[in-house]
Amino acid sequence: MAIDWGLITLSDKGAVGQREDTAGAAITQIMRDAGHQRLDYTMIPDEAQQIEQTLIDWCDSGRMGLILTCGGTGLSPRDVTPEATLRVIQRAVPGFAEAMRAASLRITPHAMLSRSVSGVRGQTLIINLPGSRKAAIENLEVVLPALAHAVDKLRGDPADCAIG
Ligand code: MTE
Repeated sequence: MAIDWGLITLSDKGAVGQREDTAGAAITQIMRDAGHQRLDYTMIPDEAQQIEQTLIDWCDSGRMGLILTCGGTGLSPRDVTPEATLRVIQRAVPGFAEAMRAASLRITPHAMLSRSVSGVRGQTLIINLPGSRKAAIENLEVVLPALAHAVDKLRGDPADCAIG
């Protein structure tokens, strides 16, 4: 099933035009190749309130089954994406973040620095991806095979999970 999704890139430099969003471009390409349609995109600074408000607005519009965030999940003082996400989700879905960290640890010990979280608000799944192009690609590829089924279930697909 094709997913209607949105992308929020968090970058202080990017938000003022001092950094190109190469990670966001790579995420968008991978999702497009998988047949998923990006409905919305924004690049905003690492400001918790702005992140929260954008997540709330997009989730509560009911338009998208998935929001991917990109960046702001590490340990720098300005990294606040996980905190903002935790404040807006209504149900935690830790498996996505767990799977990304587990797979990423096989690539680099720096995966331990990722504080990314995943969860649901209304009928929208939110997943935090890291901000570098390489890390974003590696992490998205881990969760990609489970996204369509997750969004189907979230949107009320009554089919038995054990079948198919
Ligand atoms: N995961 C993978 N697969 N590959 C990577 O290179 N980089 C890590 C981690 N996860 C990395 C990764 C690093 S160095 C950091 S700081 C964290 O993601 C958080 O990244 P962010 O602050 O850009 O969100």
